[in-house]
Amino acid sequence: MKISGSFLSSKNIPKDLEKLNDTDIDYIHVDVMDGKFTENRTMPFSEMRHISDYTSKRLDVHLMVKEPSKYIPMYAELNCEYITFHIESSEDIKKNIDLIKGYSIKCGLAISPDTKISSLIPYLPDIDLILVMSVVPGRGEQEFIEKTSDRIKEIRELIEEYKLNIVINVDGGINDKTKEKCNFADILTSGSYIIKSNNFQEKISSLR
Ligand code: DX5
Ligand code: ZN
Repeated sequence: MKISGSFLSSKNIPKDLEKLNDTDIDYIHVDVMDGKFTENRTMPFSEMRHISDYTSKRLDVHLMVKEPSKYIPMYAELNCEYITFHIESSEDIKKNIDLIKGYSIKCGLAISPDTKISSLIPYLPDIDLILVMSVVPGRGEQEFIEKTSDRIKEIRELIEEYKLNIVINVDGGINDKTKEKCNFADILTSGSYIIKSNNFQEKISSLR
């Protein structure tokens, strides 16, 4: 299992990014909120761009925004493995997939807990990752929603049925207990479970 670390709940981002950089974590998960798609808003790109001053890890950018096309060109400047935006966003999905791929960055689609899995079907041939939300997007430290387990399995079956090369990332409320409900995932994104601990590597190892 690959692990992506979210620093959304960090009280000292530079320090925690440096600590994460000293672990074997696979990606840094960058949560971006615009105050429209979500109530909360994260720091502006002018500050966010400094992430790479503190880590050499590849970034897994999660855009929780209404208008992804306003953010994609900025984030594409960073050391991104994936840029993921929500299927519930307001713009043309296919255009934004093409925008991300135009930068030779892998593209993800995120799906919130109440959105029908079948809505992903038209986009499956064009994406590299599905980010299955196991909490309502908007803040860290929430509880894992139980039904996510069935949703991950359903998505895995879809990927197999269409014989596609798409990875499943699960985001929200991930810890050493809830990871057991994510057996069909490829990547687990975890924030507070790692960041609020005093041994990042131990927590990361417990999720693998
Ligand atoms: C939720 C974010 C998640 C969150 C994960 O809106 O997308 O990435 O920060 O944090 P934990 O692991 O604390 O749920
Ligand atoms: Zn996230």
